[in-house]
Amino acid sequence: MMHAMGQGDLSVLVTAEAIRSRVWELAVEIDGWGNGVHELHVVGVLKGGVVFLADLIRALSRPVTIDFVAMSSYGQDTKPSSEPRLIKSLDEGIEDRDVLVVEDIVDTGCTLSWLLNYIETRRPRSLRSVALLDKPARRQVDVRVDLVGFRIQDHFVVGYGLDFAERYRHLPYLGVLEPSGTRTEDDAFVTTLDAE
Ligand code: IMP
Repeated sequence: MMHAMGQGDLSVLVTAEAIRSRVWELAVEIDGWGNGVHELHVVGVLKGGVVFLADLIRALSRPVTIDFVAMSSYGQDTKPSSEPRLIKSLDEGIEDRDVLVVEDIVDTGCTLSWLLNYIETRRPRSLRSVALLDKPARRQVDVRVDLVGFRIQDHFVVGYGLDFAERYRHLPYLGVLEPSGTRTEDDAFVTTLDAE
């Protein structure tokens, strides 16, 4: 399915239905961590991770609290221009809490790597991370992601919280944004894998 959205072609990469069932699978996995007894303190990364976080916490059976951080974004560009920067810090202390960082996509890995180090210095009892998407081809730093929704090829993805210049976040599916005419229909570019 292709949609002309004015800034290039948008084709569906992962349908809303496929996202929904994968989010439930991730929630089952997360519920099982540490026997699901302790409350999980879920830290979302604004703004891209917000839709994923909202669906994920409602699929969990264990008790959760939530907080958000905001990191510097790509702005109008599709490539990172500088080191990650913390724009909004945590509202609550995390010492002795079981923290789960929820990220939209791990691309170069710089943002998540920086964030995990930052959170680690605040001495949580445990720290894990889940990313809806992983683009391993673009990795620049070695970062541990405990759980991944979909591993994808090197495409710029929008929808389900992810943006291009603040647009497309509201789409219920994940789409690939390409300059007009560059996308071939037989591109197979998504696999579902759990990170080790
Ligand atoms: P990283 O630091 O390069 O791993 O990038 C992390 C952040 O860049 C993500 O949290 C996203 O906000 C943004 N980003 C990376 N790739 C994409 C993409 O394909 N679409 C939209 N945003 C992206």
